[in-house]
Amino acid sequence: MAISTALFEPFRIKSVEPIRITGREERLEILENADWNLFRVRSEDVLIDLFTDSGTGAMSDAQWAALQRGDEAYAGSRSWFRFESRVRELTGLPQILPTHQGRAAERILFSCLGVAGKRVINNTHFDTTRANIEALGGIAIDLAIPEARQPGLDHPFKGNMDLGRLELMLGQSSGDRSTPPVAAVMLTVTNNSGGGQPASLANLRATSQLCRRYGVPFFLDACRFAENAYFIKLREPGQADRTVESIAQEMFSLADGATFSAKKDGLANIGGFLGLSDEHLAQRCKELLLLTEGFPTYGGLAGRDLEAIAVGLTEIVDENYLRHRVETTRLFGRGLAAAGLPIIEPPGGHAIYIDAGSLLPHIPPHELPGQALSCALYLEGGVRSVEIGTLMFGGIDPSTGKERFAPLELVRLALPRRVYTKSHLDYVIEVAADVAARRFELSGLRIVEQADSLRHFTARLAPIVGDDSREMMQWEPEAVGA
Ligand code: F0G
Repeated sequence: MAISTALFEPFRIKSVEPIRITGREERLEILENADWNLFRVRSEDVLIDLFTDSGTGAMSDAQWAALQRGDEAYAGSRSWFRFESRVRELTGLPQILPTHQGRAAERILFSCLGVAGKRVINNTHFDTTRANIEALGGIAIDLAIPEARQPGLDHPFKGNMDLGRLELMLGQSSGDRSTPPVAAVMLTVTNNSGGGQPASLANLRATSQLCRRYGVPFFLDACRFAENAYFIKLREPGQADRTVESIAQEMFSLADGATFSAKKDGLANIGGFLGLSDEHLAQRCKELLLLTEGFPTYGGLAGRDLEAIAVGLTEIVDENYLRHRVETTRLFGRGLAAAGLPIIEPPGGHAIYIDAGSLLPHIPPHELPGQALSCALYLEGGVRSVEIGTLMFGGIDPSTGKERFAPLELVRLALPRRVYTKSHLDYVIEVAADVAARRFELSGLRIVEQADSLRHFTARLAPIVGDDSREMMQWEPEAVGA
């Protein structure tokens, strides 16, 4: 029998963080006290935290050792030069600006590009990217291929840009003065809001060529560049023999710059950067960086953070690590699907997205099926996920005064890097199977109190059945963890 190391964790565990085991009754009380909003739940009350893969990864011994080398000088620290050198080697971009996280890089880039009244085109904007563009008066347009909108469809590169529509838009904007100009084109790799799906090298090359032809700058939102590069190696003809590092270098070489959150494929708990090729644009960005983040050799980070990121950016392209990462996510997805949960296919790099709308057809969008599923996963097994549906994207549309609904009611289970083992994920599958088997017993939620914007962070909710929240999910407490 052939022995495989595909699912073998390519690390030993040197330091552990205890998980407090809770029971169902306790979790019901926690949910009630948190007003059925998992953002209000304390992390010590969570058994398996799949809220996000951002800043939640485990650092290696080499990263912890590097922290000790942190040079905390205000200007010109050794840590900065080590960080800059690794980022330059990987991206080939001559101008590197450190930032405290990805959204700071986005804000600085879009402020200095001047996006007011102009369009920015992306496969799918991440929420902070869209919010930063819109806050500056720009128009954020999502232009992924049509296959990206079909959750059950299998396709190797669902993160691809729709090249036909991109060319049409670039052509319209350059030829017709009544159409808002395109300030920039971006590709999010992998495409988080579209299910963690990769873009192909062919698509990146073609997008880059179109942008050059129309004189529009092209950027990567490179948060998960290594996962994307690994998918290219696995799935794209002619790429299997290349290293992930060389594929990543080519991806960056096609762009005029990149925004990056080191909390994902930087394997760090905080940090980011903005990389640029244009010296003049970089100069304007550095002025804003200085004003709002810090001096350009630390940009809001400690020297030790820069060290951890420099090492993380080397570890992340290790193919044993990436094989384990992508294979774990794939098998986690297959396990959930086999347990009766409809998921976005194929599984992406960092997360599995459950289609709660089709799992719970009896709960209409205004009763928040994604949030109902997310709360049920917490109640039954202490698993924390995040709703990406009408609680996150709905609310009153200011232009029409009408209630808005999300296109899909999703629940994301994001996998922190190097944190959970296969038995943890098998436990999550067991919890999800239990919830799926009794899905028609779930009922919806109503919003009791909400903020005007980004309501999902703070909203207070209540179960719809009667006045007593305990009525919502009166299932037998034989469930896992009870
Ligand atoms: N772009 C993408 C594609 C992201 O996924 C994120 C963050 C950002 C930009 C912003 O980076 O958080 O460092 O400011 N995504 C996290 C998530 C929050 O949970 O998916 P940041």
